[in-house]
Amino acid sequence: SVYWFEDRFVAKEEVLVSPDDRGYYFGDGVYEVFRVYGGKLFEPGAHFERLARTADGIRLPLPYSIERIGRKLEELVEANALREGTVYLQITRGSAPRSHPFPPDAKPVALAYCTEVPRPVAAMEAGIALAAVPDIRWLHCDYKTLNLLPNVLAKQQALDAGASDAVLHRDGIVTECSASNVMIVRGGTVITHPANNLILHGVTRGVVLRLARAAEIAVEERPFTLEELYGADEAFITGTTVEVTPVVAVDGRAVGGGAPGPVTRRLQREFAAAIG
Ligand code: PDD
Repeated sequence: SVYWFEDRFVAKEEVLVSPDDRGYYFGDGVYEVFRVYGGKLFEPGAHFERLARTADGIRLPLPYSIERIGRKLEELVEANALREGTVYLQITRGSAPRSHPFPPDAKPVALAYCTEVPRPVAAMEAGIALAAVPDIRWLHCDYKTLNLLPNVLAKQQALDAGASDAVLHRDGIVTECSASNVMIVRGGTVITHPANNLILHGVTRGVVLRLARAAEIAVEERPFTLEELYGADEAFITGTTVEVTPVVAVDGRAVGGGAPGPVTRRLQREFAAAIG
């Protein structure tokens, strides 16, 4: 497959990353995962806005304009003849001998590649189980940076407990999952954590809230507790790779009678229509 690396299209074998890359030493970089449907990037504008905001937040100057990166990703999808899948893009602060301060001469390094990924049809149909895990991340979860160790540990802890993913909470307040946002439905209202510094402002989250409002489903962006999740009428997660996936159990307890609920099903249909 064809990679985009240092602004050239090359084979994977030709991607030579320096051991001094700050992504490798410090997780000092930003990333995005885009969905590709029918050969086209889904919601590229929202992803690029978040990329620019994250880069700004960690004081990383993007090496190319957003317009140029957008064009290159389209060319990458085309070069790989990708129809259904994802594009992974990461930009690190560049390479320099290991030392904490920003290196004055380092030049940011950009890398992107495609993966063929089918839509998660089985999970979207049956729903998944979550396990609650304390959210031990820093206070800028709104930045999509490479520092994902807490997410990795939470995901593995959930898998070890026999669940599909971790639902993270700070002192009993549910934030999000290891790589997706989470929403509950109570009395017909969709409730999800506000888009502040404690969660990633998911592109899919934004699309789903917009679709809910358009369908005249009430939406509340407010913190909710683990107890509210356990007792919810319905729950589901949203994300680039999971789309709208129902949650049918949390910590071994059935949620919403243990089956996907009507509001979740409605939003899945709206989402399917939105991606064409
Ligand atoms: N993760 N929350 C976290 C912590 C995430 O890592 C992600 C995405 C989301 C959902 O955001 P979006 O709808 O924009 O994909 C929420 C990507 C897919 C990943 O790290 O693989």
